[in-house]
Amino acid sequence: MLTCQQDLFALPAESHYLNCAYMSPLSRRVEAAGVAGIRRKLVPSDITPDDFFAGPDAVRRLFAGIVGAPAAERIAVIPSVSYGMAVVERNTAVSPGQNVVTLLDQFPSNVYPWRRLCDGGHATLRSVAPPTTGPGMAEAWNGAILDAIDDATALVAVPHVHWIDGTRFDLDGISARARQVGATFVVDGTQSVGALPFDVQTIQPDALVCAGYKWLGGPYSIGAAYFGPRFDGGLPVEDGWLARIGSEDFARLVDYRDELRPAARRYDVGEVSNFILTSMFVAALEQLLEWGVENITPYCCQLTGDLIADLEAAGFGVTDKRWRSGHLFGFRVPGGFDMPAFRERLVSHRVSIALRGDAIRVSPYVYNDESDVAALRAALQL
Ligand SMILES: Cc1ncc(COP(=O)(O)O)c(C=O)c1O
Repeated sequence: MLTCQQDLFALPAESHYLNCAYMSPLSRRVEAAGVAGIRRKLVPSDITPDDFFAGPDAVRRLFAGIVGAPAAERIAVIPSVSYGMAVVERNTAVSPGQNVVTLLDQFPSNVYPWRRLCDGGHATLRSVAPPTTGPGMAEAWNGAILDAIDDATALVAVPHVHWIDGTRFDLDGISARARQVGATFVVDGTQSVGALPFDVQTIQPDALVCAGYKWLGGPYSIGAAYFGPRFDGGLPVEDGWLARIGSEDFARLVDYRDELRPAARRYDVGEVSNFILTSMFVAALEQLLEWGVENITPYCCQLTGDLIADLEAAGFGVTDKRWRSGHLFGFRVPGGFDMPAFRERLVSHRVSIALRGDAIRVSPYVYNDESDVAALRAALQL
């Protein structure tokens, strides 16, 4: 079991940051890597052509290790989820009569591309809502997703956990159903990868797209995506020179080459070498691998287990245990709950959580300890 890792971070002692799903704080190690990355450009002659590839390749290798990808070439370095999803959109065709399956209230970066795709191909976007509320909701929702996938489904795009209330989705089951009907299966791993174990060889998504600034501990504007064989030979979003075969030879860049790099490397963002962001992301991924992804959720669960039991007893609506994820959970308030007063107490107790839709979202991480949970309890008057 991990112990509290607060000392590796610079969060003020008197504040209670239970909001990693918003963005993780940088660890001091990642901060130091960023400063070192900035300093490199003080002396550009020390930056060699090899350095343009070393950073992104280290990200590829480390992220491949985290998600169990069979080869680093399956990983692209991306600036955002919307960019990764744009790659999928660009390489997916739909036709009239077909449909795309998503979930109700999914994060917009995993919705807008499919709206455009459906508009262009006159296909239907199915946004699956939970059929019930209260106990049994998550199970019923998972069932409804399977029911929504049929022979006319071209693409299924879901997260592993819902960003608003942390409901977990049965990706094994959804993947099997998508494969059965031949649909492309895309996962937004932003709110789960890094905190929940994810193995691409077991879950078999065609694409897994993750922002790096939450559960991967990285800076803003860099993330990673896995692209499976379905996307081999596809078209990138940009016509970048680094994505071309032979671009290592800086003396011959005007011997223009049409061949793109194999597998996912062709989908890298332009100026992927970003010496500051890649250095920081590498440090963050190394730290995560040292902690072990499998140790993150157990740490969070032991911290909040009693709180969740007391919330349930006090009439708050919490997702069923089987479908809840320890690192990110939401609860809906009981009738009569004074939300404005609660907001004020959050401020006075210096507690940072998120209010998303009608859910109060709590997302602890390894820098939190009992004092953070106690402050949240005080704000909840629990
Ligand atoms: C589920 C999910 N996906 C994606 C993002 C970020 O998307 P993008 O990188 O396109 O800004 C967020 C941010 O909160 C999110 O919660």
